[in-house]
Amino acid sequence: MPRDPWSRANQFLHHRREFLTAGASLAVLPWVSQIASGIPRTRMAWSKDPFQLGVASGDPTSDGVVLWTRLAPEPLTGEGLPDSSIEVTWEIGTDASMQQIVRTGKTLATPALNHSVHVEVEGLSPDCWYYYRFHAGDATSPIGRTRTMPAPSVLPDRLRFAFASCQHYEAGHYTAYEHMVRDELDLILHLGDYIYEGPAGKNKLRQHNSAEIVSLQDYRNRYGLYKSDPHLKTAHQHAPWLVVWDDHEFDNNYANLISEELHVDPREFMLRRANAYQAYYENMPLRSSTLPKGPDMLLYRTISFGQLANFAMLDTRQYRSDQPNGDGRKPLEGQVFHPKGTLLGEQQEEWLFSNLRKSDSRWNVLGQQVMVARVDRVPGEVREYSMDQWSGYDVARKRLLQEISKLKSANTVVLTGDIHTNWANELKVDFDELDSPSVATEFVGTSISSGGNGYDQPKELSSLLSENPFVKYHNGERGYVRCEVTTETWKTEYQTVPYVDKPGAPVQTRASFIVEHNRPKLERA
Ligand SMILES: [Fe+2]
Repeated sequence: MPRDPWSRANQFLHHRREFLTAGASLAVLPWVSQIASGIPRTRMAWSKDPFQLGVASGDPTSDGVVLWTRLAPEPLTGEGLPDSSIEVTWEIGTDASMQQIVRTGKTLATPALNHSVHVEVEGLSPDCWYYYRFHAGDATSPIGRTRTMPAPSVLPDRLRFAFASCQHYEAGHYTAYEHMVRDELDLILHLGDYIYEGPAGKNKLRQHNSAEIVSLQDYRNRYGLYKSDPHLKTAHQHAPWLVVWDDHEFDNNYANLISEELHVDPREFMLRRANAYQAYYENMPLRSSTLPKGPDMLLYRTISFGQLANFAMLDTRQYRSDQPNGDGRKPLEGQVFHPKGTLLGEQQEEWLFSNLRKSDSRWNVLGQQVMVARVDRVPGEVREYSMDQWSGYDVARKRLLQEISKLKSANTVVLTGDIHTNWANELKVDFDELDSPSVATEFVGTSISSGGNGYDQPKELSSLLSENPFVKYHNGERGYVRCEVTTETWKTEYQTVPYVDKPGAPVQTRASFIVEHNRPKLERA
């Protein structure tokens, strides 16, 4: 029997209210004690480098950026830190040798946030590159490179950025990042599955010996493992990042507070989500406005590159209704077309639509997780779509695409991760009306490592393309996607590596597409 998403959702919402009103239990939860404890340590003498996880920056504005680090002398176990706060000095300047410092300050790395640091620097010049680093006691961090965005009133000539997703540590090497840092990039987007929550697998390439992660310390240690990768660290040092999560930062294919598994205690699942979200915040260059409140964390937000591009970074996990049909592949009418089915939740959807309507940006970019195009994987009359993607939420997808079709600019581009394969799609309000005009384009980027070596083209590629004529490209190799945006054109280049089971794979541009201003169609470049 397929589970009924609506009755399960109500059951979980009931538990949520009960849980959040139980004041006594809140006192023992980690997120209520965010304040610094004890007298801060200012003269730490480290026996091991506390900056092994490197540095990162993110969410830039035209006059500021978030600078991040986390003190971790033992990243895999979380040991080697005092139970008190540690004073951290930060500095930001205009040269790589840190001679021309323009801002400096002190902050506290607190045990409550696992000795992570999120400095929100302000007062910088628009459209400028900067360099930054941290000091804690006798240790100094590596130097990171970051930049501010052009002023909101300016229409810049060009933006270059890359996007990536899905970096299962055990599945392969992060060679894609090694190549990405050779590109001149203004921004790097990560669209989710930054970590995977599962237990150590058999016959995997890069082993860890942990079980499936549940506790806050488990999640913290998993980030410690992933962030120890040298190529990932270098990529964070290369440019500011815009991050959003997918499911594996918490639990595979979860929907709001509903586990993919039946009979999961909703209270335990909620506590686990609080652990997962807190560890995510601690390890990402995010603003304090995203600081989680228990099992909730407001991650959706916009970042503008002058008037050239407006990035709406979306969260399709935290507020979604349960996947229809038990997350199977068959689109059961009553559930897929249920008017209450939602991926964004009511508030985020309203926020997104009003943002899109107000936007004067040349290009409106949606950075999100799951594929929007309705791709039918079975030739002929039988239809099979992934219920975890927008295809499981048909009414919500139509609402989104209808809204996009009414915007004054026809330059909406959707960026997607999740499925470890490359796709280039033209999006239609109604995918049954194949002759209807496309209203936006979608670039789905493959994984950094998830899925192992991958393949160039699946055997069934030609039937897949004829079944879904709005799909213009598909490839299953590992890599990342590079985009160059000007006022007149958007260029997307699929950068792929032929293997990840050994380090050092070469990179190639597998395919390139152009979208012209006010013409949401894909042309091969
Ligand atoms: Fe993934």
